[in-house]
Amino acid sequence: DKGTYPFYMLKEIDEQPNVMRRLAQIYLSETGEPVISDKLLNSMKQADRIYIVGAGTSYHAGLVGKRLFENLTQTPTEVHISSEFAYEQPILSKKPFFIFLSQSGETADSREVLVNVNAGGYESLTITNVQNSTLSREATYTLLLHAGPEIAVASTKAYTAQIAIEAILAKALGEADNQIVAQRFDVRHQLGLVATGMQALVDEKSKIEKLAKASFLKTPNAFYIGRGIDWSVSLEAALKLKEISYVQAEGFASGELKHGTIALIEKGTPVIGIITQEKTAGLTRSNLQETMARGAQILTIVSESLAKPGDTLILPDVDPLMSPLLSVVPTQLIAYYTSLNKGLDVDKPRNLAKSVTVE
Ligand code: F6R
Repeated sequence: DKGTYPFYMLKEIDEQPNVMRRLAQIYLSETGEPVISDKLLNSMKQADRIYIVGAGTSYHAGLVGKRLFENLTQTPTEVHISSEFAYEQPILSKKPFFIFLSQSGETADSREVLVNVNAGGYESLTITNVQNSTLSREATYTLLLHAGPEIAVASTKAYTAQIAIEAILAKALGEADNQIVAQRFDVRHQLGLVATGMQALVDEKSKIEKLAKASFLKTPNAFYIGRGIDWSVSLEAALKLKEISYVQAEGFASGELKHGTIALIEKGTPVIGIITQEKTAGLTRSNLQETMARGAQILTIVSESLAKPGDTLILPDVDPLMSPLLSVVPTQLIAYYTSLNKGLDVDKPRNLAKSVTVE
């Protein structure tokens, strides 16, 4: 039931702070320690490499997961698009562990990979919103997203729930491996900060609606740019804008623009920089300036501690590894309001279905 909301997507965006709190309650003990079964942790501990597999938004959540696992557990982690992995399987390590990310648990491309993984006798984990879904039944382990039903075709709360669970799991695995970074990573505190920060961002809707009207309503194209984890979020931000508002958008590694793609910048092209990582903040800012010199209209989504006068949207500070949970929210809202103000059916964009059960 949409209640008073015009579209499910907006309701689902607004639910994200509560999803974060719910996940902390379900997956963390009273002292803030991850509650993850020993069996799953032992399987993962034996792995020399983690392979994360997913499609679309779930693949994008995997890109963030790679950073969490590599930072907190020191386990090399690869992320793959399921439809590619299925027929071009990379060379596997000696002891691989597979994580399937799927909101629906029914995506045929991902299932094709899982069938191969099972045939190879490997263990796997499905992180999904749907209990008893195909991917959940066929994997060795399941962790549920507990995000509540996601009705809008464009995925929002499933993405942030997937990242939150990856953070909890990486913390658990890193601690099981005596990694000091993991011991110091206070995931409960972070999820609390994230929930409060998300609430502040969704409460800023009218500001973002104005921004969407001013910069996205008329443009045929747009760029989201960033480095590292910000690049991962820029891919998701661009996908949201494409699928529901039909703006041709690209998520780009900001340093790579000048190697060709900057030729696409014209007078007024919106270029949105996502800036949450101290070591690359200055570089992304210079890359934004390079596009401005070619006529781009530049906008910024910046963590508070890195903010400068003139920045467009400020994100409350959290651990830099958790920043995608906040930086993605304004981009979801930009896509939502652009679609809404174009008079489109936000929840049911053309050519798309909620669950893709063909390869
Ligand atoms: C985009 C979107 C899709 C799905 C993709 C995978 O908003 O919803 O890109 O993320 O089809 O679906 P699941 O996660 O159900 O496997």
